[in-house]
Amino acid sequence: MEKEKFQISIKGLDEKIICEEDEALLTALEKQGFAKIPVGCRKGGCGICKIKILEGEFKIGKMSIKHVSLAERKMNFSLACKTFPKSDLRLEIFKKNNKVITIRA
Ligand code: FES
Repeated sequence: MEKEKFQISIKGLDEKIICEEDEALLTALEKQGFAKIPVGCRKGGCGICKIKILEGEFKIGKMSIKHVSLAERKMNFSLACKTFPKSDLRLEIFKKNNKVITIRA
């Protein structure tokens, strides 16, 4: 059966990317040319790929509470390497200094 595909839009950018169900947002972003998204451990442990989901449904995998607290999770902060879409999404990407990335590599 073919996997469901969702459209992901990013605050500050016009283009959308496609992310399949069960595909981590980080993987889809990298595959589709977002070389400027911070990438580290890819396992939810370093916190460098922090994002905020502004709209849409998603599920998360295991991630370090040190980098995304329970309070932050309630505000839809997450880690792109451990976030999987369940619908079309709109999100915001941060650099480590919390500066929003707006330039596509
Ligand atoms: S790359 Fe390390 S938490 Fe996502």
